[in-house]
Amino acid sequence: MNIIIARNKAEFDKAAAAVISRQIKKKPDSVLGLATGSTPMGMYSELARMYEKGELDFSKVITFNLDEYIGLHRSHPQSYCYFMHENLFDKINIKEENVNLLDGGASDSQGECEEYEKKIKAVGGIDLQVLGMGHNGHLGFNEPKTPFESITGLVDLTPGTIKANSRFFESVAEVPRRAMSMGMKTILHAKSILFIVSGSEKAEVVAKALKGPVTPEIPASVLQLHPFITVVLDEEAAKYL
Ligand code: F6R
Repeated sequence: MNIIIARNKAEFDKAAAAVISRQIKKKPDSVLGLATGSTPMGMYSELARMYEKGELDFSKVITFNLDEYIGLHRSHPQSYCYFMHENLFDKINIKEENVNLLDGGASDSQGECEEYEKKIKAVGGIDLQVLGMGHNGHLGFNEPKTPFESITGLVDLTPGTIKANSRFFESVAEVPRRAMSMGMKTILHAKSILFIVSGSEKAEVVAKALKGPVTPEIPASVLQLHPFITVVLDEEAAKYL
């Protein structure tokens, strides 16, 4: 496990973007697994900046996002589809047909998840999976106690995650209660992983995830079992390591 501890936000974003940039330069048709949330936003800005400067080419890159709320149409400002276009896809030269996102408005959500899992396999699997982590150690929307064998499927959000995510909505009541998420097994099957966490409020769970027992109680602890993982933390998140 390669752990990078950034001294400030700019260093954090650059270190994370550098891992993705190296992957794309090594394999221009890389399959990237992507995450949403506050943590990767600066990294996405940095990638967009690199594209603008002609340092990166996304024309052959394929992406799969980790998760999506059920019930939010792709055009909803809080959908992860909207987030990805706003923060990255609309700023780079990725081809729309190479962008894969679970459809929160699909009439058959279970079928949508099964199709997604097949699509990932059809392109040969994910080369580099970007992961943030929730306050309870969740990965994607895989909440504590999710079996490590889970594949892409439907999940109920915990009250803690609903509350944490309500900061992006007008009220807690508006936060969807269900989501679709890549499973733990799907995530672990990625050939390499970039795990990014910042902020002192996640310091305790970072220590549990990286140094504690490997247990479904802390979903991110499973990452200890992955042979190719780069961890980018800021000093606050790393303070109990
Ligand atoms: C989002 C996702 C989530 C977030 C996690 C941290 O696609 O997969 O697991 O990574 O909730 O979110 P932030 O970065 O907002 O703290």
